[in-house]
Amino acid sequence: MTEADSQYFRRAIRLAMKGRGSVEPNPSVGCVIVKDGRVIGEGFTQPFGGPHAEPTALANCTESPAGATAYLTMEPCCHTNKKTPPCVPRLIQAKIARVVVGCVDPNPDVNGKGIVMLRDAGILVDRAEGDLELESRQLIAPFIARTVHHRPYITLKWAQTADGKIASPGGARLQISNHAATRAVHQLRSRCDAIVVGVNTVITDDPLLTARDVATSHPLRRMILDSRLRTPPSAKLATEGVDLFYTEDGFLNGLDRIKQLLPTGVNLCIAPSHPDGRVSIAKWVLDKSLSDVTHLLVEPGPTLARSFFDAGAADRVWVIRSPRKLDTPDAPNAAALPSRYVQTGEINLDGDLLSECLDTESDLFFAPAKSADFMLAEQGQ
Ligand SMILES: NC(=O)c1ccc[n+]([C@@H]2O[C@H](COP(=O)([O-])OP(=O)(O)OC[C@H]3O[C@@H](n4cnc5c(N)ncnc54)[C@H](OP(=O)(O)O)[C@@H]3O)[C@@H](O)[C@H]2O)c1
Repeated sequence: MTEADSQYFRRAIRLAMKGRGSVEPNPSVGCVIVKDGRVIGEGFTQPFGGPHAEPTALANCTESPAGATAYLTMEPCCHTNKKTPPCVPRLIQAKIARVVVGCVDPNPDVNGKGIVMLRDAGILVDRAEGDLELESRQLIAPFIARTVHHRPYITLKWAQTADGKIASPGGARLQISNHAATRAVHQLRSRCDAIVVGVNTVITDDPLLTARDVATSHPLRRMILDSRLRTPPSAKLATEGVDLFYTEDGFLNGLDRIKQLLPTGVNLCIAPSHPDGRVSIAKWVLDKSLSDVTHLLVEPGPTLARSFFDAGAADRVWVIRSPRKLDTPDAPNAAALPSRYVQTGEINLDGDLLSECLDTESDLFFAPAKSADFMLAEQGQ
């Protein structure tokens, strides 16, 4: 790959990021078509069910793509058991001469077959190397999570004061983030499929967990982990059709609460138990009740955060740090971030600092590079 190849490829990565939040459970892919040293067409995966990046870029070409090079962040698809026609025949018909591919499609229906078909048709296929290949995999980490590991990609997010506090003394709710940081959180919520909190947060904060004042392309499934059915029937989430996950032991102890909760519209779901009696995070994330979730956002108190860390189930952590101190030693502290996390970047949001850290031991860690969501947050999106 030449320096020019790398630059066009990076352009394809940036394009792919624009699909985040609207294409899932599909991967977001970017495609840049270059002829005689000029970009003649480009595109990215359209919202779920819409055209993939390749036909979008071909349709946008300002001149014939015959003889051109297509830079693709992921191998083009070749299978037919899906909503849209396969992309490999489109590239062949368009007489593309060379394709530079970022990563192989982890979908077992493709997984290298698209590359073989291109080569069989006489198209030169080069693979992106080094960081570029790893970054193209990082880009589709949520898709890899679902397709290969049968679980969602998981982000933990919380806000803390300059002295590491996450609530007022006694746990009462504390508004820590400023307007700009809150907006970044709502934008992140709008790109996730589901959001979960622990029951203590429901009791103290009574949150709604919606994505407010931002564009949304799909509904956000809201969930509570509440082993022993302690959610108050008057909680806002209870009347919003929340999915409440409890354990078998909790059921036995909470029959009265079930009677009170059922008329509110709560969707009661049984979850696998950990030996400590709480929901087993390691088993729950693999549970079939989450099979429609590609990207799960966890907004934990320190207790739930520690359980996700212990289960090795937090692929990414976003922390908002306010410059303000609480100066009250008895207020609860944020969970400590395990040392295996690496920071990819930091954004100053009108004084609040938003940092992103990735779990280097996660199956879904490929490169210490900023995620698509984080790059979008940098751009105020
Ligand atoms: N600053 C922020 O960004 C932020 C965000 C969220 C919350 N908060 C604050 O955090 C405080 C609440 O935090 P918290 O640590 O007490 O509670 P939490 O993390 O909100 O919820 C923990 C509770 O969830 C239930 N749970 C079910 N399965 C679990 C599992 N596997 N691991 C851990 N918990 C599980 C447990 O209750 P059962 O055993 O009864 O099921 C547990 O006590 C509040 O003051 C809230 O305002 C701050």
